[in-house]
Amino acid sequence: MNKSGNVKIFDIHTHIMNNVDDGSKSIEETINILKEARKAGVTDIILTPHHYKTVFENSKSLLLEKYKELVNVIEREYLDINLYYGNEVYIFPEMDKELDKYFTLADSKYILLETSFEVHQLYLENEILKLIELGYHPIIAHVERYKFVQNDIDLVDKFIEMGAKIQSNYASIIGYYGKGAQKTVKKLLKKEKIDYLASDVHHEQTIYTYLPEIIKKLGKVTSAEYLEELMYLNAEKILKNRNIVNNLA
Ligand SMILES: [Fe+2]
Repeated sequence: MNKSGNVKIFDIHTHIMNNVDDGSKSIEETINILKEARKAGVTDIILTPHHYKTVFENSKSLLLEKYKELVNVIEREYLDINLYYGNEVYIFPEMDKELDKYFTLADSKYILLETSFEVHQLYLENEILKLIELGYHPIIAHVERYKFVQNDIDLVDKFIEMGAKIQSNYASIIGYYGKGAQKTVKKLLKKEKIDYLASDVHHEQTIYTYLPEIIKKLGKVTSAEYLEELMYLNAEKILKNRNIVNNLA
């Protein structure tokens, strides 16, 4: 919600690109998701298909081709959404040596990272630190969904102290991912530990259609100013960091 009372959303975590991961299954589904997004107040979207070694590995050239296709779709359908490309990278050992294989967010130095939901991997902190030393800004995706974070919420402080940014999913607050994620996100919101809220949308008729209900709930937990940062302003700063690296190089 911005100062004029309108909902304005910059979504930095989505699986809208069709047929590249476990997200949208067809171009038709993608178009439907984009229409839902616009209706919900989303004006800017970063496409972040999974980059998950041996599970989802798409070449950058394929993703770029599909990105251009979707930009055309947006124009054809008059959807008025700014589209950017990126990846959600599943953290793996020595991932800093393969920076040419995956996209940062919108040509910036911000990288969206995910890790195991169950296990606190031994290499996690080390990989994050290495990226920070190289001048990148790692964003830990849906931090409230990891069991090891739910069991030890102070780990979020540790990630922040290391220099990482924190992303949570919109639907966690309504219990979409279970009680553990719901409780954890509430605590983190109250302490203002989160930097970005994002949809992590995979399919039509899911997160975007729940957004009005979710935003109402969020309004009861956080201040309007902080919510505006989470929904739009902090994501906008990622764009100001663009062109420092060129993913096409
Ligand atoms: Fe995701």
